[in-house]
Amino acid sequence: MAKNSSNHLAIILIILVLQQTSAAADHGNYFVKTKVFRSPEIVLEPGLVSDKNYYDVDFPRGHIAIKSFNAELVDERENPVPLHETYLHHWVLDRYYAPKNSDHRSDHTIIRNSGICHNTLKQYFGIGAETRRTATDIPDPYGIQVGDPAGIPAGYEEGWMLNVHAIDIRGAEDKMGCAECRCNLYNVTVDGDGGALPSSYGGGLSCCRDDKRCKVKEGLHGEKRSLYLRYTVKYVDWDSSLIVPVKIYVLDITDDWTQARHNCVVEFDIETCDVGVEKNDCIDSKVVSVSLPSGGDVVYGVGHQHAGATGTALYGEGGREICSSKPRYGEGNEAGNEVGFIVGMSTCYPSPAGSVKISAGETLTFVSNYSSVHSHTGVMTLFYLLLADSSPKPPTLADKITTVPFFVWPIVLLGVGLLLVALLASKGKFGNAEGYEAIV
Ligand SMILES: *[C@@H]1O[C@H](CO)[C@@H](O)[C@H](O)[C@H]1NC(C)=O
Ligand SMILES: *[C@@H]1O[C@H](CO)[C@@H](O)[C@H](O)[C@H]1NC(C)=O
Repeated sequence: MAKNSSNHLAIILIILVLQQTSAAADHGNYFVKTKVFRSPEIVLEPGLVSDKNYYDVDFPRGHIAIKSFNAELVDERENPVPLHETYLHHWVLDRYYAPKNSDHRSDHTIIRNSGICHNTLKQYFGIGAETRRTATDIPDPYGIQVGDPAGIPAGYEEGWMLNVHAIDIRGAEDKMGCAECRCNLYNVTVDGDGGALPSSYGGGLSCCRDDKRCKVKEGLHGEKRSLYLRYTVKYVDWDSSLIVPVKIYVLDITDDWTQARHNCVVEFDIETCDVGVEKNDCIDSKVVSVSLPSGGDVVYGVGHQHAGATGTALYGEGGREICSSKPRYGEGNEAGNEVGFIVGMSTCYPSPAGSVKISAGETLTFVSNYSSVHSHTGVMTLFYLLLADSSPKPPTLADKITTVPFFVWPIVLLGVGLLLVALLASKGKFGNAEGYEAIV
């Protein structure tokens, strides 16, 4: 009995050692760095909107591969700010070139992602309220290559523009209405250029522009406060023998490419379902067919939707599912779990890599569902995809690991051997839970 359990333990320990060694080897050949930055100060007061573009924001410099980018709103003491106080409509990160020693704002050229919308949605990253609980990690051996000096024109430098659209809804008469940018709550009837908005335009970005105000409760005198978008970038130094670059695609459910180009409107409205329809059947389903100019292996996929959404999915020809992404709604009060708001979107990480492919020109069916129990204005459904070239296949990290046994395996075997010696030497003592925990 005692011998049996000690054999058992030996096997568990060997497995643990092997697991830990391979986890270390995963990143062993390159070192993932993490940097945390803050946007410039965003000054808000109840009802006020801030939708500003910040140029030349802090970002890791040099030739790197981005492994993850995420963000959240925090106050001056770095405390997370819940969505029912400040609704984070979206944040967007654009990459650009600008002349060296210029202010970037007045003269820059955006380096857009790989598509596919004409003239919009050019970002490298960008999500909204769901940012806290949406995974953005890019699995090994993939990464988004940026900062390649060979790609930057002489006399220019690479920069990053961060756009943050935040709405202070403390004391708002209708918090969700403010979050959905309903024009009547903002008392807005003209667009940013002064042109009259059509009467059919009930809400959307044109009504919650920078410095606009949403209606707050009568007699409310709220305090001004300063917030920041705190963002975390994980990255590795570029190494073409280790990292496989990925392309970024952003699909939009409003994409209308009937006129030979992808016209993306980005926002749309949801009308309430007809009276008498069962609540469960009140689903507004939109479907659009799109295709990508070049295909590849799906490395990561995620949808972006607004409150009211019930899910989005992407299917390939023949109906196979490429990725489906579902919203997670909050259930409490604290930041990251705010009731009524989408606090996360589920993601897709096809495994093994290359098990889900999209062919160039393949017709993709893109589905967006929203509940139509209530009407909604200014909602969105985007799909963010990272694709790696299927061929020719650069060496993957797995190949690398199998080519280093000369140097890794003796260490593993030595470790296992030492453990066995330790085990045999202290036979009996290892039978108890304490000894086991001390080793781990
Ligand atoms: C709404 O806007 C109009 C014209 O821009 C202005 O005259 C009016 O006072 C505003 N109403 C409120 C409640 O702010
Ligand atoms: C969208 O709604 C339709 C109709 O209710 C349903 O058949 C479909 O499975 C839904 N798809 C997603 C991705 O939620």
